[in-house]
Amino acid sequence: MSRDTNSRWPGFFKLSIPERISQLAQRAGLDEADLRFLSQGEHLPQHTADHMIENCIGTFELPLGLAMNLRVDSTDRLVPMAIEEPSVLAGLSKAARYLRQGPGISTNVTVPLMIGQVQLMGVPELDRAKQRVLDAKPELLALANTLDPKLIAVGGGARDLEVRILPSEGEDDPVGTMFVVHIIVDVRDAMGANAVNTMAEHLAPRLEELTGGRARLRILSNLADRRLVVARGQVPVSKLGSNGDPNVGADIAQGVMEASVFAERDPYRAATHNKGIMNGIDAVLIALGQDWRAVESGAHAFAARSGRYRALSRWRVRDGVLHGEVELPLAVGTVGGIIESHPAVRAAFAILDIHSAAELASVAAAVGLAQNLAALIALATVGIQHGHMRLHARKIGLALGAAEEELGPLTEELQRRGRIDSETAAAVLAELRGSRG
Ligand code: MEV
Repeated sequence: MSRDTNSRWPGFFKLSIPERISQLAQRAGLDEADLRFLSQGEHLPQHTADHMIENCIGTFELPLGLAMNLRVDSTDRLVPMAIEEPSVLAGLSKAARYLRQGPGISTNVTVPLMIGQVQLMGVPELDRAKQRVLDAKPELLALANTLDPKLIAVGGGARDLEVRILPSEGEDDPVGTMFVVHIIVDVRDAMGANAVNTMAEHLAPRLEELTGGRARLRILSNLADRRLVVARGQVPVSKLGSNGDPNVGADIAQGVMEASVFAERDPYRAATHNKGIMNGIDAVLIALGQDWRAVESGAHAFAARSGRYRALSRWRVRDGVLHGEVELPLAVGTVGGIIESHPAVRAAFAILDIHSAAELASVAAAVGLAQNLAALIALATVGIQHGHMRLHARKIGLALGAAEEELGPLTEELQRRGRIDSETAAAVLAELRGSRG
C-alpha cells in the first residue's frame, strides 16, 4: 500500500478511535496484521510475554497516541508514542507545527559506537599492563570480532580499545586502584548490549593474562557518549503565539530563552527541563520497544559530563529567530529485542516508517527538542496547568455529551470559575444551552 507521508493532519483529534485507525491505516499503508492489532486491541499474547520475562502474570498497557506535524531531516513523520500523561502529544504536535515553519528540524547522528567495560582488580604493574594491553590491541580486536559474524557482515564490529586507570581515592578507599579496559564497538542497527557484553566477557580472560589482574565486571556502559544525536530547529519569532502579534512572539521567544538559561545554570531546574525532553523521547522509545532505561541513564550521565548536571538543550533568540538544539546519547536499535515479537511495536515501526537505528535516533531527538519547546512555551506564558485543565475540561464535556461547538465555551467558563468537575460542567452546559434558547 502506498503512503501519504504528510504529518500535518488537522482534525485528527476530533475523530473517534476507529476512524483514526482506519484513516491512519490508509495513510501509513499498514498491513492487515498491524491494522488488526490496532483496531481489535489484540494485546501482546500471554505466551509471548511468558517467554520475555520470568514469573510473568500478564501484560500491562499504556495509551498509544500519534504526534502530528513533525518534520525531521526534510521527512514528515507521524510519531507513535506510548504515554499516560495528558498534554504531551498536544504540546508536541503544536511545537512541531511551529518548528516546521522554518526549514524543519535537522539532525546529526554519529557512528553507533558503544563502549564495553572490563574491570580488572589487583593489577600489579599498572603502566606495564597498560602498554601490554595496548600492544595487543590488534589481537584483542580480532578476537572480539570472531564473536558476532552477523555484525561483521553488516559492517560493524570492535573498532578500538582504551585503557583507563582509576586511582584509589585515598586511605579510606576499600578496594584500591582499578584498571579498566574499554572496548569500542560499532553496533550498526542494534542497540548493542548483547554484542558488547559478549565481547567484554570473551576478552576478559585474555586481559587477565596480559595484566596479571582479576577481571570482575564485564558490561557495556550506558554513558554512550560516542553515539550522540544532535537535533536543531528554529522558529521565526513572528510565528510564535496564536494571533500573529510580533510583540507576543518576541515575548514568548524571550521567555523560552530565559527558561533555557535557567536550566543551563541550575541543576534543580535542569532536572525538570530534561524530564520534559525525556517525556517525548521515552514515549517514542516505549512505543518502539526500545530499552528506554538505557537511554534515560545515558542522557542523565551525559547531562552531568562537565561535573555539574546541566540542560540537554539550549534555546537562543538571534535576528528574529528562536534557535534550539538538543544533544544526547541515543542507544536504540531496529533489530533484535522485542521488535519482531511484539505486535504493538511492529505496528509502531510501520507507522513511523523507520528503517535504521540512526533514523530512529534522529526522530527521537527531534521529538525531544519539540517536546522541550512545548513545555518551555507553556511555562514561560500561561503555565503548565492551563493546558492540563483545558484537556480535563474537554474530557468532562465530552463525557457529558457536549457537542464540538459547545466544548470551547464550556472549557473557558470552567477555567474562569476555577472549578473543573462534572457537576459544575453539567450546570454550565445547561446554562449555555438555556442562553441559546
Ligand atoms: C512535565 O511532565 C514536564 C515539565 O515539567 C517539563 C519542564 O518543566 O520543562 C513541564
